[in-house]
Amino acid sequence: MTEGLTVTELAPKPAKPHLPDAQIVTSVKHWTDNLFSFRVTRPQSLRFRSGEFVMIGLMGDNGKPLLRAYSIASPNWDEELEFYSIKVPDGPLTSKLQHIKVGDEIILRPKPVGTLVHDALLPGKRVWFLATGTGLAPFASLMRDPETYEKYDQVIMMHTCRTADELEYGRQLVEELHNDELIGEMVAGKLRYYPTTTREETAQMGRITDNLTSGKVFDDLDLPRMNPAEDRAMVCGSLAFNVDVKAVLEGFGLREGANSEPLEYVVEKAFVGDGI
Ligand code: FAD
Ligand code: A2P
Repeated sequence: MTEGLTVTELAPKPAKPHLPDAQIVTSVKHWTDNLFSFRVTRPQSLRFRSGEFVMIGLMGDNGKPLLRAYSIASPNWDEELEFYSIKVPDGPLTSKLQHIKVGDEIILRPKPVGTLVHDALLPGKRVWFLATGTGLAPFASLMRDPETYEKYDQVIMMHTCRTADELEYGRQLVEELHNDELIGEMVAGKLRYYPTTTREETAQMGRITDNLTSGKVFDDLDLPRMNPAEDRAMVCGSLAFNVDVKAVLEGFGLREGANSEPLEYVVEKAFVGDGI
């Protein structure tokens, strides 16, 4: 059968070199033309606090790692790591990352950091998770962490996108949480999900800032107005959103905290570069 083949043709192909800090993609799901989520193997040594982010990426054309910050969307007890990603058409990383398939390798630097962690807030009665777009990712982690429900009587997830299809990842995640055998009981009656759209007619609409300042969300959920004695907040969205929502929270008397000085609210950018 091998007659006529040269030695070179018979020699085994050199194995593709492994990426540094490589993890293997275990699943990929595309939600819209601009959004997808994926899961990868978790480095055995990786410990993180739900809400933190890591640097992930692929090898660039120049042979150097092309890395970007990504919130870990899975909770800290999960055996795998989940990420929820934008697809920027000409984005250096996501123009390639959006094509990953099960079995592919990605680079993951196992050094988690971030401000959206329970330790950065003083104890309170309610916690508000305020997110636009992919800013949902850290809360996808925190909503699935039992510690969130041990620490607070009520957990309010406000997520706003332009259109309904962009809310779908979060909507399904919340639905699954309620149906989950283990955490479902913990979540029942505590997790209040308040998704809104701004550019497509849906049952609930409006910017998070507007629904807070008008008092609509408090009326809809039958909750008291936000106050520094009872309420805590975590914010993750575009820079413009973060700036505006901070002013709203300060208006309610909440002060910005940090890992080093826990107070009433904390903020993280969902991405860099929207002109502010
Ligand atoms: P880039 O050159 O990085 O970005 C190009 C442009 O695309 C940006 O200037 C901006 O205008 C826009 N853009 C980038 N990211 C987003 C986004 N997420 N939503 C809307 N517009 C965006 N991205 C995620 O998709 N999921 C995450 O969980 C996530 N977590 C992050 C956590 C932190 C702390 C930070 C700082 C950023 C995070 N990002 C996240 C953004 C991410 O780091 C990259 O910017 C994104 O993956 C695009 O990479 P890129 O190389 O394709 O384009
Ligand atoms: P809007 O449609 O009214 O701009 P984007 O896709 O531009 O990042 O926006 C995601 C969501 O965040 C949209 O629903 C958008 O509402 C909302 N948003 C954008 N900027 C702000 C802001 N400064 N304050 C409150 N919501 C904002």
